[in-house]
Amino acid sequence: MKIPQLFIAVSFLWNTALASRLYAASYGGSVYSLDLKVQKESSEISTLSKSKDCGSSPSWLMLDKDNSVLYCLNEAIGAPNGSITSFKSHSNGSLQTIQRLNTTAGPVMSNFYSAPGVLDRDFFAVAHYETSTVSAYSVNRTSGHFEKVQSFTYSMTGPGPNAARQDAPHPHGVTVDPTGQYILVPDLGADIVRIYYINPMNGLLHSVNPFIASPGSGPRHAVFWTPPGSTSSDSDVYLYLVHELSNTLTGYRVSYKKHGMTFSQIFEGGTYGNHTAPSGSKVAEISITPGNNHIAISNRLDNSFGQKNDSIAIFSCADPHGQYFDNVTFIGLFPAYGSSVRGFDIGATPEMMALALEKSQSVAVASWNERKEIPGSLLAKKKLDGDVPHAIWGF
Ligand SMILES: *[C@@H]1O[C@H](CO)[C@@H](O)[C@H](O)[C@H]1NC(C)=O
Ligand SMILES: *[C@@H]1O[C@H](CO)[C@@H](O)[C@H](O)[C@H]1NC(C)=O
Ligand SMILES: *[C@@H]1O[C@H](CO)[C@@H](O)[C@H](O)[C@H]1NC(C)=O
Ligand SMILES: *[C@@H]1O[C@H](CO)[C@@H](O)[C@H](O)[C@H]1NC(C)=O
Ligand SMILES: *[C@@H]1O[C@H](CO)[C@@H](O)[C@H](O)[C@H]1NC(C)=O
Ligand SMILES: *[C@@H]1O[C@H](CO)[C@@H](O)[C@H](O)[C@H]1NC(C)=O
Ligand SMILES: *[C@@H]1O[C@H](CO)[C@@H](O)[C@H](O)[C@H]1NC(C)=O
Repeated sequence: MKIPQLFIAVSFLWNTALASRLYAASYGGSVYSLDLKVQKESSEISTLSKSKDCGSSPSWLMLDKDNSVLYCLNEAIGAPNGSITSFKSHSNGSLQTIQRLNTTAGPVMSNFYSAPGVLDRDFFAVAHYETSTVSAYSVNRTSGHFEKVQSFTYSMTGPGPNAARQDAPHPHGVTVDPTGQYILVPDLGADIVRIYYINPMNGLLHSVNPFIASPGSGPRHAVFWTPPGSTSSDSDVYLYLVHELSNTLTGYRVSYKKHGMTFSQIFEGGTYGNHTAPSGSKVAEISITPGNNHIAISNRLDNSFGQKNDSIAIFSCADPHGQYFDNVTFIGLFPAYGSSVRGFDIGATPEMMALALEKSQSVAVASWNERKEIPGSLLAKKKLDGDVPHAIWGF
């Protein structure tokens, strides 16, 4: 059934105009609702609406698709406080502000979680890079209203090996484990992955034993993987972690204990395969591809495809024959079509890759090869009003 489906998807792409919704965050102070029209001759991204209500430095977007509510983190670079804004995203593309709340400075990534004992609310956790803090909010997913419930602030006795970047703890990512019991927060400054147990009765986070990363590696973002056909949700779980300061990918087999998780390393390698990382490059985002067999990683400022043309690295979550999961294989580098590719999202129908090209101040969309599970050619690109850290698909 795979081949006819693919054929339909491809002929769709070339014969009809297809519209898809995108959202983008710009450090110019705007959050955008964008429309992508894919056509045979020329595909185009156009602005449906834009809002300044996220604040001065929108850094991260989180979409609740079921309720059409978009959450935007304002890193508020240089300002005393960050903020979080929720928007109702209407079908005509307009973004209607629901609520805006001040936070401690520097929020950069968030993720939803829930607790079985709390039926009428969910939660989201936020990593604050600048203020060494992890905060938690309770949220009414239907209305898009939220309030702060917890925060954890960390300190270090001295700087880490990379003194310039590791002057203090810098929580950078928020990832929920596949069983929904734990939250992982890679801390770039402290070379630690902080781990929180979610109390199933009330949703409160409890700090448990962290995972210690290589000194100076600067863990940034993480993603879990459960192999296809895996039957039990906690016996076959892997974690992949990207380290911004060492430009490396590490892989672990995860074990669940009574009060926490343990990790046994199965892989460590550079995000350029056999090549050393170009000087000045910095890995950013990591995700599992839609086919659930590859890992996609954005390499910023590496100019791997020429000046201001960075790369997406693709790895297989297995050995070269796809049989042993306790292994990871480098597949190759693919063009990002711009400079400092940071956030990305593979989605929509047919699958495409949305790219936040921070220093090109643009959002781009590339085709996605569903058979090989790799990025393809550039379909469309649009300049926005500032550096673009994040872009995601709407529906
Ligand atoms: C939010 O923070 C900003 C910057 O610190 C401040 O100017 C503003 O008054 C704060 N707003 C509220 C409602 O506290
Ligand atoms: C879009 O839809 C919303 C909700 O129906 C409405 O309030 C708004 O005025 C519409 N905006 C435009 C530009 O049509
Ligand atoms: C705003 O920043 C100040 C100074 O860092 C901090 O004390 C305060 O708690 C922050 N406000 C909020 C709502 O987090
Ligand atoms: C959540 O919001 C919806 C829509 O406004 C409202 O009907 C519901 O009562 C709210 N739930 C809680 C627990 O506040
Ligand atoms: C990397 O180097 C090894 C050993 O030299 C070689 O076997 C392998 O084919 C190389 N892989 C790539 C992707 O170039
Ligand atoms: C796993 O990877 C390691 C290092 O890349 C390699 O030496 C080993 O042969 C691989 N194992 C399998 C089963 O492919
Ligand atoms: C980046 O590299 C790709 C592949 O070589 C090429 O198609 C593209 O035109 C280059 N430049 C930009 C800005 O996308």
